[in-house]
Amino acid sequence: MSSHIFNVLKQAIVTFTSKKAKPETFATNLQNLIALLDKTTAEHVNLPSHFLNPDLWNNPDKAPVSCIGVYEDDQVSMGIFILKPNGKLPLHNHPQMHGLIKVIAGRVKIVSYSIDTEKTKEIDEKSFQGETPPVLLRHKSKYGIVTAELGDITVADTSSPTCTLEPDFKNLHEIQSLDEPAAFLDILAPPYDYPLEECASRHCSYYTRLSQVAPNIFRLQEIRSPSWYWTDSYPYTGPDLFELNVS
Ligand SMILES: [Fe+2]
Repeated sequence: MSSHIFNVLKQAIVTFTSKKAKPETFATNLQNLIALLDKTTAEHVNLPSHFLNPDLWNNPDKAPVSCIGVYEDDQVSMGIFILKPNGKLPLHNHPQMHGLIKVIAGRVKIVSYSIDTEKTKEIDEKSFQGETPPVLLRHKSKYGIVTAELGDITVADTSSPTCTLEPDFKNLHEIQSLDEPAAFLDILAPPYDYPLEECASRHCSYYTRLSQVAPNIFRLQEIRSPSWYWTDSYPYTGPDLFELNVS
């Protein structure tokens, strides 16, 4: 009998590899994936318990965030992020991606922004009076500025449903652990850095809030990865996934 995490990954691959060829099945496949993720726990991925011991994170040489790569191909990646108590993933983007986050330990606060919304387009049009915005105000530009609408501020724990983001909805976020170490399973599709026709550069970019230009509308400045943020990586030690053969 296959493991739960095997079934999650298989459903993720089915969902995202068939999105273009069979768009009519995508919504149902995604719902089925979310239903499986909603039931996913730290035990399903055999999350090593030492990550949840606050003492581990008191070591000043320890990276504030640990990553466990579970799976990656050109359509889907699955990984586990573990954050120190009151740690943070800086505000970052997900170029042309779907993302799914299931908290499997602790509690996190997720602050999300959307770009290219009706409101942000209206603000940009007013700011530039119908002229083409300067290059710096295009979100694809290097170290540019993006106009973004603040969306949800969600607090999620192990009992919460899966949090999702889409290519054009809640596509930027920062994630903060509250009080204790926190861990979440993260599925991204397509993963960073695989070029797409509509978006050749798909790096992870970081941002800081520059100014507020209207209620809930902010200009975000692209920045280098903050100096307080770095990660270390650990091997996946959960159930075998190598027999995965989705056809
Ligand atoms: Fe993210």
